[in-house]
Amino acid sequence: MRSLIKARAWSKPLSPARAVKSMNLAPASTSDYRRLAEKRLPRNLFDYIDGGAYSETTLKANVDDFEKIVMKQRVMRDVSSINTKVEQFGDTFALPLALAPIGLAGMMARRAEVQAVRAAEKAGIPFCLSTVSICSLEEVAAAATKPFWFQLYMMRDRGYVKDLLGRAKAAGCKTLVFTVDLAVVGARYRDVRNGMAGGLSRVGKFRAALEYPKHPGWLLDVAVKGKPHTFGNLSALVPSAKSLSDFKAWIDAQFDPSCTWKDIEWLRSIWDGNLIIKGILNTEDAKAAVAAGADGIVVSNHGGRQLDGVSSTIKMTPRIRDAVGDKTTIIMDGGVRSGQDIVKALANGAHSVMIGRPWVWALAARGEAGLDALLRTFKAEMDVSMALTGAPTLADISDD
Ligand SMILES: Cc1cc2nc3c(=O)[nH]c(=O)nc-3n(C[C@H](O)[C@H](O)[C@H](O)COP(=O)(O)O)c2cc1C
Repeated sequence: MRSLIKARAWSKPLSPARAVKSMNLAPASTSDYRRLAEKRLPRNLFDYIDGGAYSETTLKANVDDFEKIVMKQRVMRDVSSINTKVEQFGDTFALPLALAPIGLAGMMARRAEVQAVRAAEKAGIPFCLSTVSICSLEEVAAAATKPFWFQLYMMRDRGYVKDLLGRAKAAGCKTLVFTVDLAVVGARYRDVRNGMAGGLSRVGKFRAALEYPKHPGWLLDVAVKGKPHTFGNLSALVPSAKSLSDFKAWIDAQFDPSCTWKDIEWLRSIWDGNLIIKGILNTEDAKAAVAAGADGIVVSNHGGRQLDGVSSTIKMTPRIRDAVGDKTTIIMDGGVRSGQDIVKALANGAHSVMIGRPWVWALAARGEAGLDALLRTFKAEMDVSMALTGAPTLADISDD
């Protein structure tokens, strides 16, 4: 009985209007993994993943605008065989879905990026490693059996960028995701309140430290057994940085806000693989990215973590598809919480999607087995949604 009561707490519905009463013996949806992650993680780490910029209007819109899309039920079509395979950047993937780059993921689950690349391979989808991951390119490559994607932030030190891309290539990466929506880092109120932005008083630091013993599962598995907690891709380049805050200070000083489309030319001169530009949210920038030679773009507002008040990504996706046409691969992210959302995104012009928070919640909650299960759920939800909308292949999904 006790465990049932505990279980019920984690699947507390987001809104009382949608109250769900069940035994809650197993997580079924992304929001169940979110609740489990909330229980497992120290508050500051949970909020770091969960939160967005300022009043989190855009973060909310990303999710809400998916819910507003109404699907069209179709019957009496042959849906005995559903095909979710997609060809992208010279590879065939089992689903039009990728795991988005997430900085610091290795603080949420033990060597999270290694677990994520393994889960992605099992599901037949790409994993994208962040520049600011905890596990290094080499550590992830040692666990991977196929090429994974690498995400880059432009740094002032172009020598560092060149070196990093050389390492990515040596690690087997063929696809580079260049993130352009972080010229400056957006302010997140939750991180400030939790002391993640620094500047805590002594009392504040003491109170922050008291949070950790309340989460013994995380403490043992991640804080103790999941070391080292440094930015794996940067440790060789910034040997003087010993702690996470030293690294963070270095990164904040290194992001290059003077970067423009001209820098893509330079990037192209040192990277001969696929180039995807991530962080596009309007038609003008989409056209500029294509003109600069991008093989793909990610329609993204960084999961509502940068400029609060901008449009949701699903709302902008059809306009961007109309503006750039079919030659450029359009990936969208932000608010994708189910396999059904993937179908909605494709119906609105995306070729595929990425998920950010959902994969970290699943790993934090239940480790690699949790992420395996979540990805199986996404696949099953896609199959059912395609069957019941009468669309047995991705090409059959339309805005009708
Ligand atoms: C905790 C966190 C860290 C992130 N770190 C990065 C990063 O290092 N590089 C990057 O390009 N995007 C980063 N993003 C943005 C994601 O790649 C992705 O665009 C976003 O999470 C998609 O929205 P979703 O979380 O609603 O799926 C991060 C997002 C979150 C939530």
